[in-house]
Amino acid sequence: MRVSLEEAAARLQNGEVVAIPTETVYGLAADATNDVALAKIFSTKQRPADHPLIVHISDASQVADWASAFPELAKKLAQAFWPGALTLILPAKAHVSKVVRGGEPTIALRVPNHPIALALLKLSGLSVAAPSANLFTQLSPTTAAHVETGLGDAIPVLDGGACQVGIESTIISVSADGQWQLLRPGMISEADIACVAGKPQEAKVANDDTEAFQKLSPKAPGQHALHYSPRTPLLLFSDRTLLLRECEVLTKANLQCAALLFGEGAMPSCTVRQLSNQPAEVAEQLYSALHDLDALKLDRLLVELPPNTPAWTAVLDRLSRAGG
Ligand code: TXA
Ligand code: MG
Repeated sequence: MRVSLEEAAARLQNGEVVAIPTETVYGLAADATNDVALAKIFSTKQRPADHPLIVHISDASQVADWASAFPELAKKLAQAFWPGALTLILPAKAHVSKVVRGGEPTIALRVPNHPIALALLKLSGLSVAAPSANLFTQLSPTTAAHVETGLGDAIPVLDGGACQVGIESTIISVSADGQWQLLRPGMISEADIACVAGKPQEAKVANDDTEAFQKLSPKAPGQHALHYSPRTPLLLFSDRTLLLRECEVLTKANLQCAALLFGEGAMPSCTVRQLSNQPAEVAEQLYSALHDLDALKLDRLLVELPPNTPAWTAVLDRLSRAGG
């Protein structure tokens, strides 16, 4: 159900959830100070309660409402990248609801770079918690139609067009003593952050769901392997030739497949979605392409992996999670 900006603001003030556009992905928003409203986010998404939410604020002056410390390094990052696809994890003020921070001592904050999201924050006078507007572990939405397909028509959606960044924000935690860590890669790269921070991150966090990772980093909940998945079983290939061969094998076994490819090269005989070899373009179109291919309800999706270089880190992260 599409709603206007005014209706979205009124519903948020009334403690309801509304799906809203941001430049990264659509978020399922609710008043970040209202625990009853926040509970509706968790129940709608079927998301475990210990997964903390990102609070979307209008500008950096509102950090003080939520964080007990805003270290100089975090201020520099905010100044360089807000509004934008950067989420800062900072020590939380004591009054901040445990529901929004999933029981963590920290709070996640972001100023979105989307005119409609910013207009909504202004008009409602609220800060809104908003995880991606999809069922837990499913593909993130980058259009209003994706939200409706994933969560049903009853969800109020504020349509802001297709998301321009296309994958979720980069998450950086900054401790009170000014150390930083990358918790989730995004289109703002680790190198971009290090450049502004003037120093490398404190210690590497493995983006993995291994036991070692759990022990190393209990503070990165939600970063488990089976995330961002389409419903169709997905196979990943680091080599186009192997993908072509798998397509032939599946076809011979009477199984239907489609392929997602990046850049030029030999084509398999199945349905193909070909994206460019430019990381930013691919990020913008990635979830849409996966939603489209998933909707074909075939037996397998064959996905080519882009090169393992820093420019592709965020796309590779999402693809490897989608592949499980
Ligand atoms: O681009 C985005 O970040 C989108 C748009 C809607 O803003 N939001 C998004 O939210 O991706 P979600 O809930 O799907 O992912 C939020 C991530 C989760 O991995 C969660 O664990 C992490 O942020 N997170 C939130 N608060 C945290 C905290 N206090 N400490 C560590 N991780 C936190
Ligand atoms: Mg999500």
